[in-house]
Amino acid sequence: MQGTGEELFDHIVQCISDFLDYMGMKNTCLPLGFTFSFPCRQTGIDKGTLVSWTKGFKATDCEGNDMVEMLREAIKRRNEFDLDIVALVNDTVGTMMTCAYEDPKCEIGLIVGTGCNVCYMEEMTNIETAEGDEGHMCINTEWGGFGENGELDDIRTRFDREVDEGSLNVGKQTFEKMTSGMYLGEIVRQILIDLTRRGLLFRGRITERLKTPGIFETKFLSQIERYWGGENMSILQHLGLDSTCDDSIIVKEVCGTVSRRAAQLCGAGMAAVVEKIRENRGLDRLEITVGVDGTLYKLHPHFSSILKETVGELAPKCNVSFVLSEDGSGKGAALITAVARSLGDRPIDKYLYAMRFSDETLLDIMNRFKREMENGLGKDTNPTATVKMLPTFVRSIPDGSEKGDFIALDLGGSNFRILRVKVSHEKRQTVQMESQIYDTPEDIMHGSGTRLFDHVAECLGDFMEKQKIKDKKLPVGFTFSFPCAQTKLDEGILLTWTKRFKASGVEGADVVKLLNKAIKKRGDYDADIMAVVNDTVGTMMTCGFDDQRCEVGIIIGTGTNACYMEELRHIDLVEGDEGRMCINTEWGAFGDDGMLEDIRTEFDREIDRGSLNPGKQLFEKMVSGMYMGELVRLILVKMAKEGMLFEGRITPELLTKGKFETKHVSAIEKTKEGLSKAKEILTRLGVEPSHEDCVAVQHVCAVVSFRSANLIAATLGAILLRLKDNKGSPRLRTTVGVDGSLYKMHPHYARRLHKTVRRLVPESDVRFLLSESGSGKGAAMVTAVAYRLAEQSRQIAQTLAEFQLTKAQLLEVKERMRAEIQRGLSKETHELASVKMLPTFVRRTPDGTGKRGQKYQLSNLQIFQI
Ligand code: BG6
Ligand code: GLC
Ligand code: GLC
Repeated sequence: MQGTGEELFDHIVQCISDFLDYMGMKNTCLPLGFTFSFPCRQTGIDKGTLVSWTKGFKATDCEGNDMVEMLREAIKRRNEFDLDIVALVNDTVGTMMTCAYEDPKCEIGLIVGTGCNVCYMEEMTNIETAEGDEGHMCINTEWGGFGENGELDDIRTRFDREVDEGSLNVGKQTFEKMTSGMYLGEIVRQILIDLTRRGLLFRGRITERLKTPGIFETKFLSQIERYWGGENMSILQHLGLDSTCDDSIIVKEVCGTVSRRAAQLCGAGMAAVVEKIRENRGLDRLEITVGVDGTLYKLHPHFSSILKETVGELAPKCNVSFVLSEDGSGKGAALITAVARSLGDRPIDKYLYAMRFSDETLLDIMNRFKREMENGLGKDTNPTATVKMLPTFVRSIPDGSEKGDFIALDLGGSNFRILRVKVSHEKRQTVQMESQIYDTPEDIMHGSGTRLFDHVAECLGDFMEKQKIKDKKLPVGFTFSFPCAQTKLDEGILLTWTKRFKASGVEGADVVKLLNKAIKKRGDYDADIMAVVNDTVGTMMTCGFDDQRCEVGIIIGTGTNACYMEELRHIDLVEGDEGRMCINTEWGAFGDDGMLEDIRTEFDREIDRGSLNPGKQLFEKMVSGMYMGELVRLILVKMAKEGMLFEGRITPELLTKGKFETKHVSAIEKTKEGLSKAKEILTRLGVEPSHEDCVAVQHVCAVVSFRSANLIAATLGAILLRLKDNKGSPRLRTTVGVDGSLYKMHPHYARRLHKTVRRLVPESDVRFLLSESGSGKGAAMVTAVAYRLAEQSRQIAQTLAEFQLTKAQLLEVKERMRAEIQRGLSKETHELASVKMLPTFVRRTPDGTGKRGQKYQLSNLQIFQI
């Protein structure tokens, strides 16, 4: 750090070399973003001369030179690999970009670490030192230098001056020396020396240790302020400072005072920045996010709260949120590099900006969806609700007692699958499955309903033939992945087709009846359709088989949807108040009443216009797999038309609907081979992509798939909150069963979804369980229960059947009775008659002349008046 510049850069290149070896990437000339945390005068994104070293660096021959050039030369000297240095980025800027990736309101970057500095987005019109008047540019303030002209002289102490004199850059970075980690420990040490010298500390003994510069690292400072007495003594001991308990209390107070001033000074500086931004925009109130990084901010127990408090006091008209940069500034530097490399200064984000949401927006969407669910559940509001909240008549998660031999049909996802599921009990429950996928050609999906169900029946016949069970009448569970109204388990009235299906004459009809009819018509086998279930329900049940806590099922595949266990007392549409029932939310329709217009983009509208069901399933069209590739394609076309991509080349393939699929999005977003995949896929579209194009397309894919995961996190968050409220517990512990090709195949989707859900619903521990075996197993579980219930009632009915008499039987009884009466009356047969016909000697029935009002009790049950 303090040798020659050449040595420093050779060292950096040595490290890069090791890293490339480790990654096996020495032969690819990657674009490189260089986070360089020192003041540089930049004339372009990849040009910057070092103004002066700060903090602990002091290498020679660097100040006044271009850092990018120095790095390039060092790479050349080594002559072992090549890199394309695209961007030079200050750490504050990298941090801002990292955070802005998740929160577009983030327009300030703050570092409180070894050094202290801030950057923010300024209007071009205000920047006289850079050409142009349009838009914004990020300014690296280098506020650490504040005070160099005496601006802080009145508040600087003799300890500050001593620290300055002992530093590598005397007279420089005055503000930084009062606020950042590298110097706070030193200030503390100077104070301690003074107090000791005056006999107030360490029994007046100044040890060698205490005289050593740098012993008070940021982490010790933070520890001392976090702990009390005894523990602090051991920290001090560890530092080689022999102390009493009183000493440790004093040391703690010193640390607290020094760090409090630092946090307050930072707060004052930040207040100045946000006020400036507010005035720039002529706003009464400013809402803004600051991305923060740095060890002092992260490790110190009170720094951040004092900083926030100060900003609140000094800039009351600004609502400032602080978010921690989880991934450091490197990610931001890479983002800047990606953009710079692919597009120069072209505004790629023009179209993508609207697809990124802050957590605030996501929470807002979560609340909207919460209200939609309530509407769907209420009796009066259900008829007009967009989110239908369909009762499924599934009342419990598998409990381990299910058994039998079942067929499951799985129709509506990307595959039509028929399965045989055998559940047996030998010691423990085991499941055996065999399955086959059948084609469903488009003309059948879009033809007549009769043809569609004939096709299903034909495939089922084929499957049974192959399984050699055509002579059996096995119970069938039917996963039918479309919105169905149910009044019992084995009935499903299709409300409307979604996704790729549009067969005529099915909407409004019971799909179980249609399938039964098709099977009967063939007459070559018999089937007993016991249950129709949505794929979300099948998925929840499949996962519930392994984890009894599973009470939510979601699909993120061709379409998207969720079901969950709701309290029966909240389901107005079903009788009864006890227990729970699974509700199929049909959340794909969220937004069909205009509820999401503020976040839909021109591309979403175009997708909708070109779909089989315009105006419907608007949420589904923003997030699910069937539409994602198409969304990306539309964005690429638009960007190409504006010359931002492919040098403006637009090929017929690029213009063809469906040519860019969701699986391509997944491939392109792969961490390692993503870019080469992009090249392959785009080349097939005939657009001759440059490397820059590939990077940009990867970026577009990431934004679109990230939006999807974020939106699902919001709707799922609403369901989780509902479950939590239903249980009335302060923390929700639950499992969500998930299936669907997008969730399964996309390299980052699941992780992003989980992360956002945990952020949006912090008071929960959610386990996401992938349904490994599809929804068929779950459908079999539902069928097992239905079958058991049906079998139960069949046997009971059989037992009671003998009690049911026909009219003929009753007539026969009457005749026999008549004969016996006769036999009982006549003298000869009287003795033998089974009906004895005994005389009673009562000779009159009441004639109405008896005394009125007198009560005779004849039995406990009968009272009458004579
Ligand atoms: C499958 C389930 O695994 O996932 C189906 O068995 C479900 O029931 C499907 O419809 C959803 O995913 P995709 O991507 O095939 O629509
Ligand atoms: C120093 C550097 C500045 C950097 C800050 C935080 O102040 O001059 O460029 O941003 O430290 O690391
Ligand atoms: C569509 C269907 C829904 C299904 C989902 C996932 O949204 O309407 O019933 O669950 O796709 O396949």
